[in-house]
Amino acid sequence: MAININRDEFPLKLYHATPRAMVGWGSYQMAGEEAKKIGIKHALLVTSGLKGTGIVEEIKGVLNYAGVEVTIYDKVTSNPKDYEVHDAYKLYKEAQCDGYVSVGGGSSHDCCKGARIVDSQNGRSIREFYGMNEFAEPINIPHLAITTTCGTGAETTYATVITDTDRKYKLLIFEPSAYATRAIVDPALIRTLPPKLTAFTGIDALCHAVEAYTSRLNVVASWGFALHAIQLIGKNLREAFGNGNNAEARENMAWAQYCAGHAINSAGACVVHAIAHSLGGLLDAPHGLCNSIGLVPVQRYNMVACPERYADIGRALGVDTTGMTTVQAAERALEELDKLIKDLEVTERFTDLGLEEQHIDTLADYACTDFASNINPRTVDKEVIKDLIRQCM
Ligand SMILES: [Fe+2]
Repeated sequence: MAININRDEFPLKLYHATPRAMVGWGSYQMAGEEAKKIGIKHALLVTSGLKGTGIVEEIKGVLNYAGVEVTIYDKVTSNPKDYEVHDAYKLYKEAQCDGYVSVGGGSSHDCCKGARIVDSQNGRSIREFYGMNEFAEPINIPHLAITTTCGTGAETTYATVITDTDRKYKLLIFEPSAYATRAIVDPALIRTLPPKLTAFTGIDALCHAVEAYTSRLNVVASWGFALHAIQLIGKNLREAFGNGNNAEARENMAWAQYCAGHAINSAGACVVHAIAHSLGGLLDAPHGLCNSIGLVPVQRYNMVACPERYADIGRALGVDTTGMTTVQAAERALEELDKLIKDLEVTERFTDLGLEEQHIDTLADYACTDFASNINPRTVDKEVIKDLIRQCM
């Protein structure tokens, strides 16, 4: 057996580009002008519908006012499916659109990114792009991504996650040019998010930050984004959950999810996400809820691999670690994470998502093949993942 003389497991770092973004109250009103600037005359608006919020109608109006024609695809579901990607692409072609506008959270953005990938590759199946890609010609089809949740970060990332409905498996698709052309993050849109979804998507953002900060990829340039997102979430998520009209908390959560998106974009996610992807594919379980349940048990398992990073996470969450050892500070971070989950009244377990004992083996197999498991701070194998899943049941 050859001796490994490499200093690091992942010695070469990649820092991925992110789109120009407009962040702030009322930024959605610039959607029409932004769409025009990137060359869109007829947009396919890709969304889950956001029923009852008036957001889709409002943004359609803003686009129309700027002279941008709009065709709407509003059939995106959570854990966006392969056939939804192709339905959106088909509608795009039929309506002779020349650019994409996604409106919503991660599902809408990812479905849109998927349709755009298919579009750029002459209609090939989205399933063909599972894993790492690097297209000979970078994607140059315009895409404006408008975010309405405080969790996704998908408006700023290059990864696309789509469910293969035959295998019931979430495909992680990495293509360096798949990020949106421009992004809009408007707290006014995020303000419509009900408390439960505020909690679940906010914890998803927290997972992005914690996993990016602890991942074995060690992308130092992402750490500042990650720690700042953790700090913002620690200070604001409870308030945004408790009072959706708290403007300061909503704005800070908008920044938090954006910073966490930047962090995960290059530093990656770990086992909380590997398990959530598996549950999303197999049982169509909501991503943010899966992460909210999995966050603490996985961090407890991971802590021994990098206690100093957990100590930093504790300080970002407001813990005064003066006089503590590194391990004591790391333990306090875990307590803070647990307290946050409890304050947000996340009482669900994986069994509430339909998980039964018979699913565990397949679920663990899926999670082991997920790239996020390879970069988890502490080594995992199938038995470890099965144990972590059982802790969440
Ligand atoms: Fe996520």
